[in-house]
Amino acid sequence: AFPKQVRLVEMSPRDGLQNESGPVIATHIKTGLIDRLANCGLSHIEAASFVSPKWVPQMGDAADVMAGITRKPGVRYSALTPNLKGFEGALAANVDEVAVFGAASESFTRKNINCSIAESLERFAPVVEEARKHNIPVRGYVSTVLGCPYEGDIQPEQVATVAKALYDLGCYEISLGDTIGVGTPLKAKKMLEAVAKHIPVERLAAHFHDTYGQALANLYAVLEEGIAVIDSSVAGLGGCPYAKGASGNVATEDVLYLLNGLGIETGVDLDKLVATGDWICGQLSRHNGSKVGQALGGQ
Ligand code: HMG
Ligand code: MG
Repeated sequence: AFPKQVRLVEMSPRDGLQNESGPVIATHIKTGLIDRLANCGLSHIEAASFVSPKWVPQMGDAADVMAGITRKPGVRYSALTPNLKGFEGALAANVDEVAVFGAASESFTRKNINCSIAESLERFAPVVEEARKHNIPVRGYVSTVLGCPYEGDIQPEQVATVAKALYDLGCYEISLGDTIGVGTPLKAKKMLEAVAKHIPVERLAAHFHDTYGQALANLYAVLEEGIAVIDSSVAGLGGCPYAKGASGNVATEDVLYLLNGLGIETGVDLDKLVATGDWICGQLSRHNGSKVGQALGGQ
């Protein structure tokens, strides 16, 4: 059965902007985006990333972004923290929640965070421990859950193993990432079933990129299985200009339209969201990757 409510976790300030080509986006545009998203009724916004600025130049101003936003009561502002250095930055910037990120594939883990899966878990353990001392919840991501750009197919059991390891470390929620958007609904369902054998489905989130246009179909499949937390990005922001065909998270407007149609509550205002998508696309001179944004926006 479908959930009655879904929590949307907004990815655009982080996953959406981290790969933008060209010059580093001005901090005030990032904070303007985050404040607009909060005013749409989104209660959970991934605002920044405390990673190496050599690896991800677009996120180099994470501390300034956190300092520049207007905190809306009831909104949780989170950030990525791959190691203790990142956690210290996030703590100093007063983030509400941090996230560690691993992958189901060895090669992807190596390319993304420069270590093996086992080493990644060793690095995450002290982050989770420190976060617990400060009462900061930790989210865990597993990338490449429906396929890897280097290894191809990924076995559902491998996803379950990494997800369980993150959950056992103390992550309160595990977000399952179809990083390259290759999944299809039946695969998504089977993957989720494998993970849900080890982790309650209430503790799982779907993080689907829309590279092959399958994200909404895949979301429908996992909603039927009880998924009630969905990661998405306004205007479908995201994607790497240097990786062939890479595209952003599924567009928040499109997910919201789907959920509204199913009678599932989110607390998010579609008109304001469409306006926010229009605004950020204008700021970045970027095509709006949301179908719903195209249909309803541009007025
Ligand atoms: P490394 O080179 O192995 O780390 O990188 P290191 O500890 O040897 O440090 C090297 C340098 O980085 C040092 O600086 C450190 O101080 C610095 P130097 O001495 O050379 O001047 N450094 C840092 N600086 C700032 N903040 C930090 C930090 N840590 C070290 N936290 C590291 C390891 C993880 C740092 C690196 O690989 C990295 O930053 N990777 C970024 C990966 C990333 O952000 N990927 C995108 C996000 S994940 C994603 O998008 C997937 C997701 O959306 C889900 C999905 O779609 O599947 C979540
Ligand atoms: Mg992602």
